[in-house]
This record gives sequence, C-alpha cells and structure tokens, in this order.
Amino acid sequence: MADKVYISGAKPLRGEVQIGGSKNSTLAIMAACLLVPGEVRLSHVPAIGDIRTMAAMLAALGARVERRGHEMCIDATCFRAAEAPEELVRKMRASFYVLGPMLARWGRARAALPGGCDIGTRPVDYHMRGLRALGAEVEIDRGFITARTRGLTGGRIYLDFPSCGATSHLMTTACLARGVTTIENAASEPEITDLAEFLTRMGAQIHGQGTSTITVQGVDRLHGGEYTVVPDRMEAGTYAVAAAITGGAVTLRGVVPEHLQPVIMKMREMGVSLTSRTALDPYDSELRVHAAGRPKAVDILAMPHPGFPTDMQQPVMALLSLCEGSAVITDRVFESRFKYVAELRRMGADIRLDGRTAVVRGVEKLTGASVRATDLRAGAALIVAALAARGDSEISGLEHLDRGYEDMSRKLSALGAEIERTATTRPMPAAVEA
Ligand code: EPZ
Repeated sequence: MADKVYISGAKPLRGEVQIGGSKNSTLAIMAACLLVPGEVRLSHVPAIGDIRTMAAMLAALGARVERRGHEMCIDATCFRAAEAPEELVRKMRASFYVLGPMLARWGRARAALPGGCDIGTRPVDYHMRGLRALGAEVEIDRGFITARTRGLTGGRIYLDFPSCGATSHLMTTACLARGVTTIENAASEPEITDLAEFLTRMGAQIHGQGTSTITVQGVDRLHGGEYTVVPDRMEAGTYAVAAAITGGAVTLRGVVPEHLQPVIMKMREMGVSLTSRTALDPYDSELRVHAAGRPKAVDILAMPHPGFPTDMQQPVMALLSLCEGSAVITDRVFESRFKYVAELRRMGADIRLDGRTAVVRGVEKLTGASVRATDLRAGAALIVAALAARGDSEISGLEHLDRGYEDMSRKLSALGAEIERTATTRPMPAAVEA
C-alpha cells in the first residue's frame, strides 16, 4: 500500500530547517564521475530517490559507488560498459547524462531515449547535435540512441534554448575531447557552475561557467578528489514558501542567497520578509523568512537563469492562490507544467489556464482535500497548499516527492506542521465549515 501524507493545515511554521545538497547538481556531478579513473568523494549528497537511481546506474556501468549518510564515494576506474540500462534511463531523464562520458572513455555508447513526463515532451535533440559537433556519429534506432567516435574533438555548439541538461552533458563530455569546445547560448544556472567547479577540481579546463558562453579545453585525463555540492535552492525555495503561506517565521540553514535571488525578490514583492546571513560555509548561511498577512499579487515569468526558476513556479502558484488580487504565471521553459492546477482547484484555488499561462485569482482561503501529486514540484505545491488549507488534506503520489525532497514530513513536523506520513488510509474528514 503506497504511503500517503495527511496534513491538518492552517498552522504557522516556526523554527529552523537544514537544507540539503542540490539534487540537480549532484546528478550531473555523479554522471561526470564516469570520466574519472579514480576515487571521487562527494559531500552533502541528498538521500533522495533520484540520487539512488543515478547510483544504481553508475554501479550497473561498473563503477564502485558507496554512500554513508550524505557522503558518497564513486570510483569509475573499472567502468567499462558502453550501454546504459534501459529501465534506469526511462526511470529518470538525468540518467541520459552518462551517454557522453561512455563515448568519451570508450568511443561508443548506447542508451534508451529518455521518456517525456508530466511537464513536457523533453526531447534530446540539443544533446545529439552537441555530440555530433564533438565528432561523434549519433543515430536513433528503435527508441535507442547509439553513438560512436574515433576520438572526440573540440567543436562549436550552439543551443537553441539554454538547456540545463544539454549544457551539463556536453560540457562534461567536452572535457576529454581533443582541442577547444565552445558552448554558446549555454545555461547559466548555479548547478552548471557547480558542475564546472567540480570538473575543474578534477583537472578539467573550463571557462565562462555562469555565462552564456562556456569554453572547454580538452585534457587527456581527469583525476580523483573531493567535492561538496551546493545547497539545493529548490528545496530552500519550497520551505520559504511553506513559511510564507502558513504565516510563519522560519530560518533556512544552507541557502546561497544569490542562487535564490529571483525567488527572494518576487516573494519580497508579495510582502514577505526575507533576510539573509551569509557564512563561510554555505551550509551555515541562513535565510530568515517571515510572513506578514496575505501575499500581494505579483506576476511570475519562469525563464532560464537568471530568470525565475521553473522548478519554483509550482510552490509559488500555491502561495499566489491566496494572494490579494490576481496574478499571471507564465512558464517559458516547459510547455505543460500546469497539470497540478486541477489538484489545487480541489482545494478551492481559482486558476484559469491558457497554454503556458495561468491566471490566479486570489481566494481568502483554501480548504483541505484529497489530492495526488503528478510530478516532483507539483507534489511540493500540494504539500505547501495543504499546510495553509483549513481542515485536513490527504496527499498521494509521494513517489514523485521522494525523488527530490529528503525527509520532508519530518522536517515540516519539526517546524510545527501537523503532518503524518503513513501507509494506512484514513477516512477523509467531512467538508470543513465554510
Ligand atoms: C533540468 O531539466 C532540471 N533537471 C529540471 O529540474 C529543470 O526544471 C530544468 O533543467 C530547467 O531548469 C535536472 O537537472 C535533472 P532543459 P532538463 O534541458 O535539463 C527543451 C526538477 O524538478 N529541450 O533545461 O531536462 C526542453 O523540452 C527538474 O528538479 C529541447 O527542446 O531541462 C525544455 O522545454 C524538472 N531539446 C527546455 O529545453 C533538448 O535537447 C529546457 O529544458 C533539451 C531540452
């Protein structure tokens, strides 16, 4: 019987919560470890589903993967495989990032095309064009991508859209390509910069990370070492919204403010108080979130960095469903990332959809309901909405949530939420008094 989360809402969150390492940075760094014929020790690796899936992928390819808590050791010295297990690539899109390292190390690679999901078709044409620019022959046959090369050579890559995955995957692969590679219209998300810092620490020569043009000077080989991944700005943003939507006061530990700037700026526009204290160790840096009354309506335009992050569009939509006035939310990154709106409506949200745009008319209150998560960030949106809603909510589809949020029920309970995760179904309460 799948677990469900039961929340009795409308309780302000108070206290302090520790933010973990970035899921998306860790996934790209783990795939990049396949380039390293030596031991890599990673710190602040989150204990979440997607990391377990990537660890299974690396082990299936012959790498040694050991984890103890939030520390992980990866040694790809014995990595020999040139084919990624189909079931793992289909399970998680980021598994596809192993294709380039296989090609770089062995001259050939095969992987299933990653599926689309509930936020869009998510093709991989930029990845394929980029590998061809690095001197590989790349074909699709019966749902699989096969690639081969006599030796990767540096090339010029232009991304039609600043794709995070394509930038990560191609920047990593180019590290062992002979000569210079430039990636133009590259993604500049903090996770890309973190990956570039990691690769540089392992001996790569990369410049321009964090800008739209990245240059990679290929080297003969990389070496092992140690690295600490950046804090997860999406986990931090989600708890910031949870504090604001419940009218609470929460200190987030493990926030790099500049990584979350667009979210901080927009939440300040809504009237939420956010003050940061930076420490030498990013995991000691703090963001204090204090809500004062109903959020004011602000428009949100989800764009590539440094625009507002698409992964925060969903939790912020839940917050704006209680705003004074009407807000327009547009997602310019994914074409269908509003499928969770139907679930928010079950809690009383007044939202109209028109393609990539949602018009949110703020309501006075949300009421508890039985809702189902359809993807990772949709799950986050439903959880924060249930924390604010009057009455009880039941949230299912937790397998999505577990992919990206570690120990969420425990962390929220420690902040004063009335939340329980259990496999036993509870009868949903009668409708809450109007
Ligand atoms: C990464 O996905 C993240 N995942 C996503 O986070 C994040 O939402 C997204 O970047 C945007 O920031 C990981 O890092 C594991 P893209 P990715 O390539 O790389 C189109 C989460 O919740 N595109 O930047 O798959 C694509 O369809 C996840 O943590 C092509 O057309 O996203 C989309 O419209 C969800 N062809 C746009 O680019 C390609 O070859 C941006 O996608 C590649 C992408």
